[in-house]
Amino acid sequence: MKIIIVLLSLLFICFLLYSELSYISSKGIKFLYNIFSRIYELKWKLDKTYLNKEINNRLFIKPILDSSGQESTSKFIDLACGTGRLSLLLLECTDFKGQIEAYDISSGMLDIFKKHIDKLDIKEKNRIKIFQADLIKWKCSEENKNSCSAIAITEAGEFLSNFPELIEEIYKILKPNALFLLTKPVERIAWTFFGRKQSKNQIIKLLEEKGFINIQIYSWTSHYDVIHCYKK
Ligand SMILES: C[S@@+](CC[C@H](N)C(=O)[O-])C[C@H]1O[C@@H](n2cnc3c(N)ncnc32)[C@H](O)[C@@H]1O
Repeated sequence: MKIIIVLLSLLFICFLLYSELSYISSKGIKFLYNIFSRIYELKWKLDKTYLNKEINNRLFIKPILDSSGQESTSKFIDLACGTGRLSLLLLECTDFKGQIEAYDISSGMLDIFKKHIDKLDIKEKNRIKIFQADLIKWKCSEENKNSCSAIAITEAGEFLSNFPELIEEIYKILKPNALFLLTKPVERIAWTFFGRKQSKNQIIKLLEEKGFINIQIYSWTSHYDVIHCYKK
């Protein structure tokens, strides 16, 4: 009996760590990312898919550019931006002329992001604003409604207990026809994020319920698919 209890407890601890402590509170995930931010940064260098220009362009950059146009006033929001992988890719692209707002809960992740930004020239630095924020409490303010050309949240939705409510806020901020780009865990592992609506059917239903149209799912890494959808 004791062995069973110990094994079940170990299994439970493994599950909590696997889900990055996100079932306890957002403070848990903040704590983990503050500690492991440097190790997270290595991930980009180890997995070839993250460095593949064709894939990055097709799944991320081109859809954001198509949604943002060439205007310098267009705004892209990078939610749960981490160390800034996506925002930095976008800033590298000379066709992107818009502004970026990036949000994350972890100061450790944002510090690394800021170091990357410091290497950019002043013009580019001025186009990006970084905020430390908990997306569980994140709300669209009245003046920000219909203000944004594209929003992305990559590799993070499955860690957010308020994922459906957050999608509602995202819908409010986007301009009509604007892009919402997100990732979901591949079907093989989506079921392990209990209650987070990450399976293909659940996420499509959720996005449709919140008003998004033209939902397309693309295969990306061994762990994640990419979703493009648009505000009506
Ligand atoms: C797997 S990383 C993904 C980072 C980045 N989007 C990327 O694709 O490289 C998950 C990120 O989500 C952030 N995150 C998790 N829960 C959050 C919350 N409640 N509010 C804000 N950020 C959160 C973490 O701090 C971490 O930086």
